[in-house]
Amino acid sequence: CAQVATNVSEQKHQVSRAKRSSALGSRAFRGSTVWFTGLSGAGKTSIAFALEAYLVSKGIPAYGLDGDNIRTGLNKNLGFSKEDREENIRRVAEVAKLFADSGVVCLCSFVSPFAEDREVARRIHTDAELPFFEVFIDTPLEVCEQRDTKGLYKKAREGQIKGFTGITQEYERPEAPELVVQTVGRSVEASTMDVVSLLENEGIIP
Ligand code: PPS
Ligand code: MG
Repeated sequence: CAQVATNVSEQKHQVSRAKRSSALGSRAFRGSTVWFTGLSGAGKTSIAFALEAYLVSKGIPAYGLDGDNIRTGLNKNLGFSKEDREENIRRVAEVAKLFADSGVVCLCSFVSPFAEDREVARRIHTDAELPFFEVFIDTPLEVCEQRDTKGLYKKAREGQIKGFTGITQEYERPEAPELVVQTVGRSVEASTMDVVSLLENEGIIP
């Protein structure tokens, strides 16, 4: 796709973020993105979806965007090369920005192994003055491989999957995430509450 859009310009909305939030039943604007990164099997999806359920149960609009789901829809034309992962993260970050702008707490669970791509996701939000929280689900590779919930590590070891994160492709650990969550020897609920505390401390939720 060598085509690039030209002669396009930003069109201003009439509705403010505050007004959109009040239509959602919220007194404060809470739109923001929580970006979960970590190895396959680390617990990103479990924690993000538990957090989604927790927030919604408190009347706070939240929506989880998850790698496995996005890759069967919006990004089904992308694979797992460095270039495709970069494009995956860029597109998802743009979608998350729209969710956040609309007043929703957007929960993104993507391996997002490259620091540069996570920085792009952050910039997309900060340029739009939207809060962005990088949350590193810090589960050791050995534990993820032992869990092997989807049998993907086994396949990767057998050479059936090329470019598998942690085995045949890099995972760059976040250097300055807003939060590091441990999962070893802890319940999903306990790990999820770490993120709830972050959102409370940051004034996203009361
Ligand atoms: S990325 O790196 O952010 O673009 O990946 P993501 O969109 O999160 O997709 C990761 C899920 O795809 C499955 N899968 C793989 N993961 C890593 N490496 C390779 N090569 C791969 N192939 C398939 C796997 O189910 C990932 O989900 P999680 O929840 O992380 O296990
Ligand atoms: Mg997952």
